Amino acid sequence: MKSNILVIGGTGKTGRRVAHILQNQQQNVHIGSRNSAIPFNWNDATTYAKALKGMDCAYITYHPDLAVPGAKEAIKALTETALQQGLEKVILLSGKGEKEAEACEEIVANSGLNYTIVRASWFNQNFSESMFLDPILAGHIALPMAETKIPFVDADDIAEVVAKALLDDTLNGQIITVTGPRTLTFKEAVETIAKAANRNINFQEISLDAYLEGMKNAGVPDDFIWLLGYLFKEVLGNADNQIVSTDISTVLGRKAIDFNEFAQTTAATGIWNQSITQTF
Ligand SMILES: NC(=O)c1ccc[n+]([C@@H]2O[C@H](COP(=O)([O-])OP(=O)(O)OC[C@H]3O[C@@H](n4cnc5c(N)ncnc54)[C@H](OP(=O)(O)O)[C@@H]3O)[C@@H](O)[C@H]2O)c1
Repeated sequence: MKSNILVIGGTGKTGRRVAHILQNQQQNVHIGSRNSAIPFNWNDATTYAKALKGMDCAYITYHPDLAVPGAKEAIKALTETALQQGLEKVILLSGKGEKEAEACEEIVANSGLNYTIVRASWFNQNFSESMFLDPILAGHIALPMAETKIPFVDADDIAEVVAKALLDDTLNGQIITVTGPRTLTFKEAVETIAKAANRNINFQEISLDAYLEGMKNAGVPDDFIWLLGYLFKEVLGNADNQIVSTDISTVLGRKAIDFNEFAQTTAATGIWNQSITQTF
């Protein structure tokens, strides 16, 4: 059966992929964001009702992160509006090991809507579509927490899980933890990319303070610097985040995408061999 599905952040890393899968399944997909056909702005709650009107369900990606001040209030207002507008179900993209994100998960779970929480580890696509792309293109990446093991997850896998949760009620009420099939350090991830892209990329371990200072000097806004500090220290510093989950194989009936496979596929697009872009 066809559903009207709002994909909030539907031009972003996971939303774009979710929209694509659903369109291929002949669903009525509607993309909501500041610059999309359906105007939706997290910072303007007056846009919520209009965007949700006539929808059966929604995929929620909060920007920039559920840990930032104001996220809880926005998620509460959004879910209340979704209930008023008669939506049946929402899927929330959350972050693994983020206390603040768990508070948002609880708001969704207690909203009166059917829901699925998709709790994700750090994405592979941070290296190809987000903050680590520019340093990779520059051939030099300096990061803190170099020895921390991270079960990077692929946005393609997240999107498949989300699409299934939107269309299949058997995943209602569940928290699905999505990680890659193994852990890698930042150093190992960068080495894998360098090999796949056939280029030299120098990896340097630096302290978190030096990293954040470098961001400040590069003109990165203060609130984003705060978020980076939180994500490195609180999220990656949390030992629970190193645990590999098998939920992707349980839900999709196949193995989660390995970082090496991601690196090979992405290198073939040429993205790591182009000139520098601006990802902030
Ligand atoms: N990256 C990771 O490693 C990671 C790990 C775990 C969880 N997460 C979570 O993933 C979520 C982000 O999902 P994503 O990476 O798929 O998206 P993304 O690529 O970060 O988001 C970009 C999307 O959000 C829209 N957007 C930006 N600002 C907006 C605003 N003020 N109001 C409405 N829409 C806005 C953009 O469109 P417009 O520019 O048109 O508005 C675009 O569609 C965050 O909540 C983050 O906590 C990320």
